[in-house]
Amino acid sequence: MLTMPAQKLYQSRKEFLKAGALAGVVAVLSPPDLFAKRHKKNIAKQHSLLSAKIINKTRILGTGSAAMKLSAIGLGCMGMSFHRGLIPGKKYMERLLHEAVEAGINFFDTAEAYGPLTNETLVGASLHPFRNKIQIATKFGFKDGRPSTGLDSHPQRIRKVVEKSLTLLRIDAIDLLYQHRVDPNVPIEEVAGTVKDLIIAGKVKRFGLSEANPLTIQKAHAVQPLTAVQSEYSLLERGPEKEVINTCRQLGIGFVPYSPLGRAYLTGYLNPHTKFYPENDNRPSLPRFQPDGLAANWPLITALYEFGTMRGLTCAQVALAWLLAQEPWIVPIPGTTKTAHLHENIAAANITFDADELKSFNEAISHIKITGERYTGTQAQMVEK
Ligand SMILES: NC(=O)c1ccc[n+]([C@@H]2O[C@H](COP(=O)([O-])OP(=O)(O)OC[C@H]3O[C@@H](n4cnc5c(N)ncnc54)[C@H](OP(=O)(O)O)[C@@H]3O)[C@@H](O)[C@H]2O)c1
Repeated sequence: MLTMPAQKLYQSRKEFLKAGALAGVVAVLSPPDLFAKRHKKNIAKQHSLLSAKIINKTRILGTGSAAMKLSAIGLGCMGMSFHRGLIPGKKYMERLLHEAVEAGINFFDTAEAYGPLTNETLVGASLHPFRNKIQIATKFGFKDGRPSTGLDSHPQRIRKVVEKSLTLLRIDAIDLLYQHRVDPNVPIEEVAGTVKDLIIAGKVKRFGLSEANPLTIQKAHAVQPLTAVQSEYSLLERGPEKEVINTCRQLGIGFVPYSPLGRAYLTGYLNPHTKFYPENDNRPSLPRFQPDGLAANWPLITALYEFGTMRGLTCAQVALAWLLAQEPWIVPIPGTTKTAHLHENIAAANITFDADELKSFNEAISHIKITGERYTGTQAQMVEK
């Protein structure tokens, strides 16, 4: 999988030379030839790094007693049971989770709401044998665990969710517990105080927030130091750059970008003709995933492809490497249900942009304006609170 683009490039070069020889124009250097000459060393370096099947880069989220050492890329488990189309067989997902551990991933993201409960059940059953090697993050925050029924972060509800999560995940303590969405009916200090008590009781190890704004982050952090803020962040959604990332930097809090591949858009696999599976996919309800949005934002895919293809990188790998290049305390959690994608994504941890490359890539995308809101209706009202 990893060498596919390189193979394609090589094949097309061979074909080009063959065609050129027939036409008597072999002496003319094609753009790929010129590029290959200039970047031969770079390409060789990238290929040896990309062939590594193990992720051996680590990062630290949070500081002091809230710090957490993690593989540079984690695994988002949601799509194995929720919101990403046809639900694959449990045995296959169990195998995928084992392969992720074998490949060095030690950070797994789930939530009560994914299913609800089915994702925690899968993660708990599959990762139980590897407990001493891994860290599990889960989330509370919705009535009955269902986002459609509204928010509930009252202390008694948090405590109930934690007990259920511990049982389903088959662990004694939750490594990282996030509030999934900020509940306007419960002061954040009360939420943070409840999690603090759970930490003192040994049921939770660390605390995080999802889609919180800077003021909420500051208030929560003052009661119980936060390890990480998890919000949507990718080349498709750059909202956290406005303030939240700065707040995290100032307070020494880590950042976990969710949907780091733009819910698959940034891989280049989706287009206006894509048919989603409506029974279990939230993308058809999101403005950016309407055919118009998928078409209008295509220049982003072109930029990823143009940057990646001559370096032997896929669009997904460039998108993940770009996130990793933003801050050393960022750990993205791409989701996948496929072994090949898992290994492709892991390899992105080894990609480094040099300063010129990052500058030229940022320049290439600077004129691209994203079309379509990321959420609408109640979903939009629940974020950045
Ligand atoms: N805090 C929150 O509110 C929140 C919200 C959403 C998500 N999350 C977390 O973030 C995680 C990831 O988010 P996400 O699933 O929404 O989006 P994502 O990671 O940006 O994209 C996942 C999608 O991309 C596809 N994909 C992954 N790697 C690929 C590759 N190399 N090539 C082609 N396609 C690839 C996957 O399909 P395949 O299965 O075919 O690979 C899947 O459909 C979730 O699992 C969840 O843990 C949190």
